[in-house]
Amino acid sequence: MARILVTGGTGYIGSHTVVELMQQGYDVVIVDNLSNSDQAVLDGITAIVGTCPEFVHADCTDMSAMDALFARYNDIAGVIHFAASKAVNESVEQPLKYYRNNVMSLVTVLEAMKKHGVHNVVFSSSCTVYGQPTAQHLPVDETAPLQKATSPYGNTKQINEDIIRDEAHANSALHATILRYFNPIGAHPSALIGELPNGVPQNLLPFVTQTAIGLRAELKVFGNDYHTPDGSCIRDYIYVVDLAKAHVKAVERMLSDKPEEQVEVFNLGTGTGLSVLEIVNTFMHVTGVNVPYQIVGRREGDIEQVWAKADKANEVLGWRADTPIEQVLMSAWKWEQKIRGVEG
Ligand code: NAD
Ligand code: WQD
Repeated sequence: MARILVTGGTGYIGSHTVVELMQQGYDVVIVDNLSNSDQAVLDGITAIVGTCPEFVHADCTDMSAMDALFARYNDIAGVIHFAASKAVNESVEQPLKYYRNNVMSLVTVLEAMKKHGVHNVVFSSSCTVYGQPTAQHLPVDETAPLQKATSPYGNTKQINEDIIRDEAHANSALHATILRYFNPIGAHPSALIGELPNGVPQNLLPFVTQTAIGLRAELKVFGNDYHTPDGSCIRDYIYVVDLAKAHVKAVERMLSDKPEEQVEVFNLGTGTGLSVLEIVNTFMHVTGVNVPYQIVGRREGDIEQVWAKADKANEVLGWRADTPIEQVLMSAWKWEQKIRGVEG
């Protein structure tokens, strides 16, 4: 079966995608510089799938390394480009690191693809490109106006989407699928791979699971005075395994020459918004574990509410994120227990 190059494939979303690709029979090569992941993730993938994917330890901004990779694996049919730095706060403090890594890695991968005659790329974008949609654009669909990014990280996603469109305009052979993820959460049901946050988690779910297991004294809920039913912010939390499966659908579509447009854009979300308090309460309910929390002030720059209209992905990709939130939250809890050596 076709060979797919997965950049950032030992990372959180990448590793789950590699599993789904391999389970569908694809040959996978991972390239990762291990800047935000561990090579031991390969053991988890191998334990789930039964075989180890090919792994190249290299940096996607390194043209000679990428050139050598494409020369060595000369049958790559498509690329899924996850490799990027993703910490929003860090991007505010170190913007150049983000522009260098996230923009240069995409440019380098596209150049190497062109040189080696590889014409299909799937790119990891984010709902952050929509900012706070107006009420008339909620749930938000792919045609909603993009808004000026509130962080250098978010800006790299907008710039990278533009780079892809410009290159596709100039190079008619290129086909690209831009996937705008909403809020990926949870872990593989096997608890053999999952999210491994660095230091104090900035994202909600890892903070909830670390508080539940006693690593953090309490969760701070950032604001209960928003214009939402319970006053806390609303997001579209999507199960990482459902998200991974969408990548397989996107690859299938590209390889079967179905795309109607050279650049296709899909929202990947559930279509349902949940509040911070709904997530915390549901987590406590399904796990039976208490999560001490305190309502504090709003977090600067937070979006009040955003969730996806995912009809295009549902219809065109034939994909739906339908894992119940209870199951998703249990998977996150099982993973947290596993990595802390606690019997579930
Ligand atoms: P992650 O940090 O777990 O995975 C990214 C992987 O890329 C890591 O393994 C890292 O070591 C690797 N990497 C980074 N720079 C590299 C480089 N120059 N060369 C080679 N490898 C490199 O992050 P993730 O959550 O799996 O995110 C994957 C992609 O999805 C990213 O592009 C991210 O911006 C995007 N995304 C993530 C979220 C989210 O909430 N997790 C939401 C929207 C979009
Ligand atoms: C979710 C909700 C917080 C932590 C970030 C990036 C975005 C995208 C996804 C990549 C918010 C609240 C959180 C905590 C809390 N990533 N919260 N206490 O804000 O949607 O976006 O991740 O593209 O670019 O900005 O996700 O998980 O940080 O927060 O109350 O300790 O949980 O206020 O309402 P967010 P998040």
